[in-house]
Amino acid sequence: MTFPNSQGERGAPRQGFPSHRPTTRRAEIARVAVNLNSLRLRALCPRGADAQVAAELKRLPDVAEVALSPASGGVHFRGALSLLYRANLDLRCASRVLVELADAPCRGAEDLYAVAFGLPWEEFLSPQGTLAVSAHGTLPDVGLSNSMFVALRVKDAICDRFRARYGRRPDVSVQSPDLRIHVQLYSENRPGERSLRGAPRMVISLDSSDAPLHERGYRVASVEAPLKETLAATFVEIALRDLPMGPPPVDREGIPLLPTVVDLCCGSGTLLVEAGLRILQKSPGLLRSGGKARHFGFMGWRTFDQAAFQRVVEDAGRQVVRGGRVFLHGYDLDRQAISAARRNLGTAGLSPFSQIQLGDLRSVEPPVTVPTSEAPRIVLCNPPYGERMGGPDELVGLYRALGDTLKRRFTGWSAYVYTANLDLAKQIGLRPSARHILWNGPLEGRLLEFRLY
Ligand SMILES: C[S@@+](CC[C@H](N)C(=O)[O-])C[C@H]1O[C@@H](n2cnc3c(N)ncnc32)[C@H](O)[C@@H]1O
Repeated sequence: MTFPNSQGERGAPRQGFPSHRPTTRRAEIARVAVNLNSLRLRALCPRGADAQVAAELKRLPDVAEVALSPASGGVHFRGALSLLYRANLDLRCASRVLVELADAPCRGAEDLYAVAFGLPWEEFLSPQGTLAVSAHGTLPDVGLSNSMFVALRVKDAICDRFRARYGRRPDVSVQSPDLRIHVQLYSENRPGERSLRGAPRMVISLDSSDAPLHERGYRVASVEAPLKETLAATFVEIALRDLPMGPPPVDREGIPLLPTVVDLCCGSGTLLVEAGLRILQKSPGLLRSGGKARHFGFMGWRTFDQAAFQRVVEDAGRQVVRGGRVFLHGYDLDRQAISAARRNLGTAGLSPFSQIQLGDLRSVEPPVTVPTSEAPRIVLCNPPYGERMGGPDELVGLYRALGDTLKRRFTGWSAYVYTANLDLAKQIGLRPSARHILWNGPLEGRLLEFRLY
């Protein structure tokens, strides 16, 4: 929760909120420098996607200490500012990237204030700049059950530090601050600890992404139930987990041999776009504004190094696979979906590699491909499963038909079906070789993997 921007709130403690503001002289202010060459970073992601985010991180240059973070969530890693830039440009399955400044015990509001006050905010923000603080999670046992209060205490501590040091403080700007601060409260259970209540802790971080990373900029048209881009990317990351990065093999004419991807009910084309970006090794963060990078939070920081960022952008551009034949094939019954998918693929620069056709999955024939070990053939499918998208009998028939199509026509392919309805999934009538739990917001979905021999 982000506290609202209130004019004239300087100085006076908020009604109903206790003040823990210490009297601080300039000399007492801690000067802990942040090592910009070895930042402690954390990629946040939807539940169930952390293994895929870790796999993505391990492919980035100069990354260290990649480790899942079951207590506070997401995936930790370590590296320099250039890695922070690259992670924001490249990560497909993560929702944002944080720079952790403190991960400390939290016994109440005083700890929150004291830790926030002791951090070197002036390295990232000038007293004339603007900030916004958002707080996530609560610790009712230590009196912290109001996220707005938590955000407010941290904002007060930061502003008090600036005032003590420079005689003025930054303003609040909820919409477009120079610095977004992310506060998370959580309980840590140590390994083997039985207690339901873990030790209360806080993490105070800088949000380097600003807008969440799923906002790639290619979704210019939509359908009724589109997959979130990060969920689609996680689905694709599982389906293409064995596809190496780097230049692909080429055929006799020198044309890259790329995997063939078919989406039998493509909707607005999210899975095809995410598969295309992964296969062509295009950074999702470079899609906006005619190939220029979108805005990221780190661009407003005092530490922002434009030249280093430009080098990272050029490096990311060099890895893109050029050329290649059509390798993305989409079908849908709905004309509007077909048009949305074409527009979205076009905005993502994937029109030359895609063919989207009106078609019923009951009668789709696989595209003609030459099977090679380097270029796998995969079917992706996110059939309707909600009541809004068809009655129960209709959906049972559709899932049976999907099973028939896969069995009869896609021999030799691998198929991946995502659904949140397990009863419907059984109607496919094929035994999955693997199941992955992937959350779609509050819905627990399954990605089922089939080898079609
Ligand atoms: C859950 S939506 C897919 C959303 C898509 N993954 C996206 O991100 O936009 C399911 C799609 O299946 C399509 N559909 C339903 N029955 C179909 C059928 N028999 N053949 C092909 N497509 C079908 C619907 O028109 C709808 O667009």
